[in-house]
Amino acid sequence: MNPRKILVTSALPYANGDLHLGHLLEAVQTDIWVRLQKMRGHDCVYVCADDAHGTAIMLSAERQGISPEQLIDKVNAAHQADYAGFHIAFDNFHSTHSAENQKFSESIYQALEANGHIERRSIRQLFDPEKELFLADRYVKGTCPKCKTPEQYGDNCESCGSTYSPSELIDPTSTISGATPIEKESEHFFFDLPQFKDMLKQWTRSGTLQDAVANKLSEWLDDELQQWDISRDAPYFGFEIPGAPGKYFYVWLDAPIGYMASFDNLCARTKYDFNDYWDKDSSAELYHFIGKDIVNFHTLFWPAMLTSAGYRTPTAVFVHGFLTVDGTKMSKSRGTFINARTYLDNLDPEYLRYYLAAKLSNGVDDLDLNFEDFTARVNSDLVGKVVNIASRCSGFISKGFEGMLANELDDPALLVSMQAASEEIAAHFEKREYSKAIRLIMTLADAANQYINDKQPWVVAKSEPGSDTLQQICTTGINAFRILICYLKPVLPAMAKKAEQFLNIEPLSWEGSQSVLLKHQISVFKPLMTRVEPEKITAMVESTRAAYEASISSENETSPVSTQENESPFAPEIQFADFAKVDLRIARIATAEHVEGADKLLKLTLDLGKDSANQPIVRTVFSGIKSAYKPEDLEGMLTVVVANLAPRKMKFGLSEGMVLAAGPGKDELWLLEPHTGAQPGMQVT
Ligand code: MSP
Ligand code: ZN
Repeated sequence: MNPRKILVTSALPYANGDLHLGHLLEAVQTDIWVRLQKMRGHDCVYVCADDAHGTAIMLSAERQGISPEQLIDKVNAAHQADYAGFHIAFDNFHSTHSAENQKFSESIYQALEANGHIERRSIRQLFDPEKELFLADRYVKGTCPKCKTPEQYGDNCESCGSTYSPSELIDPTSTISGATPIEKESEHFFFDLPQFKDMLKQWTRSGTLQDAVANKLSEWLDDELQQWDISRDAPYFGFEIPGAPGKYFYVWLDAPIGYMASFDNLCARTKYDFNDYWDKDSSAELYHFIGKDIVNFHTLFWPAMLTSAGYRTPTAVFVHGFLTVDGTKMSKSRGTFINARTYLDNLDPEYLRYYLAAKLSNGVDDLDLNFEDFTARVNSDLVGKVVNIASRCSGFISKGFEGMLANELDDPALLVSMQAASEEIAAHFEKREYSKAIRLIMTLADAANQYINDKQPWVVAKSEPGSDTLQQICTTGINAFRILICYLKPVLPAMAKKAEQFLNIEPLSWEGSQSVLLKHQISVFKPLMTRVEPEKITAMVESTRAAYEASISSENETSPVSTQENESPFAPEIQFADFAKVDLRIARIATAEHVEGADKLLKLTLDLGKDSANQPIVRTVFSGIKSAYKPEDLEGMLTVVVANLAPRKMKFGLSEGMVLAAGPGKDELWLLEPHTGAQPGMQVT
């Protein structure tokens, strides 16, 4: 067999935040595929990098009081450690803020320009006069010009779904400074995508894409393509455009070039040759694994740029869906927006690798992480079926036969049938139908367990201790285990390594499944994986939520709803005396107003009735209900307030209490309102 030359990438995570389990879905999907190729003897290289440029990173560094370089270095180290924690085996992990990337970005841009694919023209955009910064759509908020819903972003309305340009918003504000933006003109550089329409129509239909993705794209390609704005004005964290002072490459121009840069960085210290992989007539295969949200960048702009600049295009782009948790979008307030590190602090990374593999297909559907299902699958498949085979057989071999396997098998046919599945399993992995591979492997595991149940080595050990029969049954079982481990190795590299130590063998290649171990000394069995403990999952979710709550209060904004979850959906039981400490009162919202510079808070003045001297009791409370209520709708409303909560000093002033609201948080919130008849100041008991 001729080894294939393959270059594989995962999308480059932004360098301004932690990796979360969604990123891991992609990395695990890619890593399994790469490990399979390597096990099968192909020359497969896996590169990635941090995506380090753009306004978000610039602003995030500014907020943290550090330079963008300091921020991206810090994040790069954290990302690499997190990926390593999940056994993601990159051949190289680089950064788009690198010398290599600057070199390729400049030369590709110069080629595009020389080929007549760059156009310049002035455009008018909103500009923050305080920050002296052009505002991308997501940094502008205002009232929807169509349906008049307030608080909508600059590109589309979440309420009525209409799209518009940010300058059409009514009463726009900059979300960065709160200032009212002005319109300003500046020259921008555009990549002339429409010139590539025919090339793209052909490329997207040449087996490079999943059908669902190709169909979506052909809708776009049948419409008129737009030129792509590839420049941004200073201040911007990125690469300055050659010959255009004050103009920078838009982050998405140099991001995919980061794939090349990371590979080039690897070439500098290995035998790999850059041109071998990127030349127009390269025979190497090139695959990008990406999420469904970034398809247009990888299947329109990127192949068009590569073509213009004289490079090869990707062999295929593999698109996956999004990770949801317990049926919904990951949510910080629910504690399901789980960081890679928080997971690793609580659970074994291979649980997640296995669970994802057991559910991944080559489609673009979302994948749900359901914790009950997660626990059940890992415990029953890995611990109950796979590891169990070894633990059921190994004791007899080490006690009765000094760790020596028999010269012959009790049931060669069992192993032959397991070995026969090798190519089918490999084909499922190759096609990214991991769930099918796992299902087949588990059928084999069931057969192996059935064999052991039928042969009952524990009975034979009593009736014929030290017999050839006993040794041969256990030798068959251990060989079955070895084959299963070989098949699972792309998914469970750490468990496979422990199994290889136990079996006292060299690292398994894919071919390894085809041989059997006879007359071979094995080591003493140690448990290869322990069961998922549900308390660890609870702890992980709790600490995610706690981190979120701490982050809002460090932003000096209160979280309006704070519930706690344990195994029961409720907070731990308390005594009446505990409850009685909380003084709940009816309050009338006298005034409600926006707070300048706060994106979650409204300032409420509450009327709490009169004190014993008949003086009005008035409280000021800052409440995180801005996204759910318009101030004018609140005025006059009755609600419930925690009247004896210690006052809290916040960035915007002193908050003297807390109003009660129900809901999952953020946009879905309902203030509690008493029945008519209740009066301000009344105690709630
Ligand atoms: N920086 C860009 C990619 C540039 S590639 C030249 C980016 N970064 S990202 O950090 O937002 O996302 C990185 C990858 O993670 C993307 O492929 C994205 O689709 C994927 N995911 C982010 N959240 C995800 C889930 N919840 N589920 C699955 N994948 C998700 O986009
Ligand atoms: Zn609207």
